[in-house]
Amino acid sequence: MSITAEIRVGDKTLPLPVIVGSEQEVGVDIQALRDKTGAVTFDPGYGNTGACESAVTFLDGELGILRYRGYPIEQLAGKVSFLEVAWLLLKGELPNAAELATFTAAEKANRGLPAHVTAIINAFPKDAHPMAVLSAAVLSLSSTYHAETAATHAGLNFNELRLMAQLPTIAAAIYRHGAGLAPVAPDAKLDYTANFLNMMFAGTARSGHDADIANALDLLLILHADHEQNCSTSTVRLVGSAQADLYASIAAGITALWGPLHGGANQAVIEMLDGIVAHGGDVGWAVAQAKDKDSSFRLMGFGHRVYKNFDPRATLIKVQADVVLGKLGKNDPQLAIAKGLEEAALKDEYFVARKLYPNVDFYSGIIYRALGFPYGMFTVLFALGRLPGWMAHWNEHNAGKAKIGRPRQIYTGKNARDVVELSKR
Ligand code: ACO
Repeated sequence: MSITAEIRVGDKTLPLPVIVGSEQEVGVDIQALRDKTGAVTFDPGYGNTGACESAVTFLDGELGILRYRGYPIEQLAGKVSFLEVAWLLLKGELPNAAELATFTAAEKANRGLPAHVTAIINAFPKDAHPMAVLSAAVLSLSSTYHAETAATHAGLNFNELRLMAQLPTIAAAIYRHGAGLAPVAPDAKLDYTANFLNMMFAGTARSGHDADIANALDLLLILHADHEQNCSTSTVRLVGSAQADLYASIAAGITALWGPLHGGANQAVIEMLDGIVAHGGDVGWAVAQAKDKDSSFRLMGFGHRVYKNFDPRATLIKVQADVVLGKLGKNDPQLAIAKGLEEAALKDEYFVARKLYPNVDFYSGIIYRALGFPYGMFTVLFALGRLPGWMAHWNEHNAGKAKIGRPRQIYTGKNARDVVELSKR
């Protein structure tokens, strides 16, 4: 069936080309619209705007489908490692055994930080939010590797490989600086996630996480690894579209992710659960607040721009919360409150009518807290997971005939007027 589209603006009718994606999603190509009619589209929040073609991730919010490079998230979770997923996103295919061995060895060999990055981290006040420090530390890497944008290593762009290897070292150094602890050097005997846990917690009461816990965290990183054109990924693409370098683009993505309506929701959820505990565990109080249009309170970790059925990542993370807490022998009352809150909201007409379901951030914070991560580090963990997705999109944008991103606007300000002298104003 061929689909046609046309638009009439005033007395001008313009036939519009239609593009159909590999999952049959339909896009109406309006690139000629302004030229031929003088009008632009108006879509605040971009809910109806396809900003690019992309072959990285497919998601269907109505059916709750999420696939990286065609692979369902449910199959990737538990079957492959985070490094394999990173390779998949960056290269388009899962690595074979030789490619994975080379990538793993190169990741281990490139974890060390230039001295100035450690100095920048340590220059921040101890109570700085870790996401602010993370963005600054990543940006500072551009000064070291600026000339090496085209270099490759172990089958990957060298800057991308290094950033994969260095981000956990940066994240752990940020935590330890804030906690007043000496940094822990990377350990090449340990794989990616186990090494990160070791750099975080070695020598503290929270050290000694075993392989099962490392695997659980690895799985969480996989679930966060990409999510097509979300706020932070669109930011990375937009900044990259001005031909800013990889580090500048990723640093911008980190700051976008920090916001509580995006990745910062994982911290906001746990703070909300603390608030419910302070109200005697009354989930009805939170539901009532969230429905009150005179209150700015929202049920954090609930709702999603795209998912209008369920978020498949939330389903997998909820299971992991039980697994991890069981493994650690922890009985966190917040998990029971979160489950009660989910149950109450899913029965409530307000949430049903608006198709608001738990998202990826609803249960993840409970796991991070059980593992010993302080609240401020939760969104840093999201950034560790999202890094390969950001880089895959940055590459995709820059590989095509990349145009600079530059939306239009509908101006609603004053019409032209003359400047009045200061004495007459
Ligand atoms: N609690 C209460 N009401 C909500 C919530 C919520 N969490 N989310 C949406 N609504 C309501 C809105 O008030 C609005 O109601 P109305 O139609 O009566 O005005 C309606 O649902 C639609 O909400 P929008 O804000 O228009 O939906 P949008 O798609 O723009 O926002 C968002 C999506 C930002 C995720 C929103 O659901 C939200 O703020 N959720 C809480 C924050 C959160 O968990 N963010 C993480 C998202 S996942 C991620 O980015 C990694």
